[in-house]
Amino acid sequence: MCGIVGYMGFRPAAAVVLNGLQRLEYRGYDSAGLALFEDGKLELYKTQGKVADLRQLSSFDTTTQTIGIGHTRWATHGVPSDSNAHPHKSNSGELLLIHNGIIENYDALKQLLISKGYVFHSDTDTEVLVNLIEDVQKSHNYKLGKAVQVALGQVIGAYAITVLDIKKPNELVVAKLGSPLAIGVGENEYFIASDASPFVEFTKQAIYLKDHQMAILRREKPIVLRSLKDDNKADYYLQELSLDLEQIEKGGYDHFMLKEIYEQAHAIKDTYRGRLLGEESLIKMAGIEEHLEKFLNAKRIIIVACGTSWHAGLVAEYILEDLVRIPVEVEYASEFKYRNPIITERDVVIAISQSGETADTLAAINLAKEHGAFVFGVCNVVGSTISRATHAGAYTHAGPEIGVASTKAFTTQITVLTLMALRLAQAKGSISKEEFKSIIAELELMPQKVEVALLQNKTTLEIAKRYQTATNCLYLGRGVNFPVALEGALKLKEISYIHAEGYPAAEMKHGPIALIDENMPVIVVAINKGHYDKVVSNIQEIKSRKGKIIAVVTEGDQTVKALADHVIEIPETLECLSPLLTTIPLQLLSYHMAVILNKNVDQPRNLAKSVTVE
Ligand code: F6R
Repeated sequence: MCGIVGYMGFRPAAAVVLNGLQRLEYRGYDSAGLALFEDGKLELYKTQGKVADLRQLSSFDTTTQTIGIGHTRWATHGVPSDSNAHPHKSNSGELLLIHNGIIENYDALKQLLISKGYVFHSDTDTEVLVNLIEDVQKSHNYKLGKAVQVALGQVIGAYAITVLDIKKPNELVVAKLGSPLAIGVGENEYFIASDASPFVEFTKQAIYLKDHQMAILRREKPIVLRSLKDDNKADYYLQELSLDLEQIEKGGYDHFMLKEIYEQAHAIKDTYRGRLLGEESLIKMAGIEEHLEKFLNAKRIIIVACGTSWHAGLVAEYILEDLVRIPVEVEYASEFKYRNPIITERDVVIAISQSGETADTLAAINLAKEHGAFVFGVCNVVGSTISRATHAGAYTHAGPEIGVASTKAFTTQITVLTLMALRLAQAKGSISKEEFKSIIAELELMPQKVEVALLQNKTTLEIAKRYQTATNCLYLGRGVNFPVALEGALKLKEISYIHAEGYPAAEMKHGPIALIDENMPVIVVAINKGHYDKVVSNIQEIKSRKGKIIAVVTEGDQTVKALADHVIEIPETLECLSPLLTTIPLQLLSYHMAVILNKNVDQPRNLAKSVTVE
């Protein structure tokens, strides 16, 4: 995890790096640091806390230095502290390094360096790496680039690094394996960052470094890319960025999460735009068309993902099995990788990831590929590691999701997976023309219906106020809305720190019902589809035990209204598409609860947006 930013050019580096770090805080925010360099003078600032805390340290002159590197951290090795914050210095004080990733064999390397007399001032793997580079450089009298290449040859793990050598002030060396690294190329200036957001207002030209590549950036000189494996020069592709500054700003909302909740109507439309051709009754998805046979001949579909993306996978399981009639298994990517699963060449693996960087999901993909399965990615971040590691894929086109709690990623993932299910069902002949038409017609109405669901904002705020002292909550749903219950519970847990559990409604009587008393809020998805009557019975059971019922119902519902303490109405829709609507009030409820409790909504404690460690 962690975010790295670097700059070399003619602008004040401090402003570029600090603003860039703030945009990358979604990657981690437990400590931050900045090194500025100019005219032989180095200034280094590090602190536990956020980038805002780092700014407070700025007794430094922030206008003169035109070279700088900075870091925002999510701790892996060593607690969040000033000394563990990056940049890390080598023993001679000449090399400075920022790092996103994990050096797995750091302990062995550290012992080796200690035996050579090196001393360490932090608990991090990064300090080991910077000293390893120094050791290689000094032992062989190598230039910095060569020393980085040779040192990384001894490293096991993942990294995106930037190294500054104060003896060569007009040069930065960067390298990548596993963790993302983008280089912004401007007129006489270079930017380095974990994604393009820190430099999007300065340049639209970017190079995304590939794994096993390094780049040497010299002031006012062309960039040089090399392979870390053999040191040969490598070609690069200058990518035109389509990202806009306003997409990564709050746009008048108090929090990114709220903005992203409200963006869902648009985001869903962007997801199906160009793919769903309603008038022709067609769905066109290049990644599916090119590999249609793989899907149609599949004995099984395995979905791998983590967190919210895993919940989207569970929703897809219901839809794919129902429409396409191919068995689907949904796996936590982290478990899949480590349990010696049976994977064959007839399996199709769908990997779902908003960030496209989740290490557990990536590991599951690699395992599936080793066993000859065809792997299809559903990612949001264009050009991300997972989107490149898969054989084919479909982007969700949700736009940048910056709030750590995933919202629009979930609904757009479900949209993509529904489109896939419809296309495959059509190709397989497992859906009637009428059903196909009715689902796509309803899908086209979804953006409008999401807008209507968002009108429940005020109701969810009132409910949040009423239950702000709750310490536990249950979320219940059935069928395709069972994963929505899991997702609702996850949203509440992660941003308001209130303990919450999601269950299939019928499962309650097998244990969790023991928890219900007059203090337990139970949020039930009880729309008038699927097993409505059974859910009504489940609600009765909660009521008999004095639980407080907050029900998400279909507009006009009377039965549940008569039983529940609170109802939140959403528009009528087809059962298979209902998660796109039932999710909205649950997101809003968690959001309001967290705001009322004065929690950091966009940056909840202990979390990070991109989980690039296994
Ligand atoms: C929850 C959340 C996480 C992510 C999970 C997977 O709100 O954001 O649970 O869903 O870390 O991340 P991606 O989708 O980027 O692979």
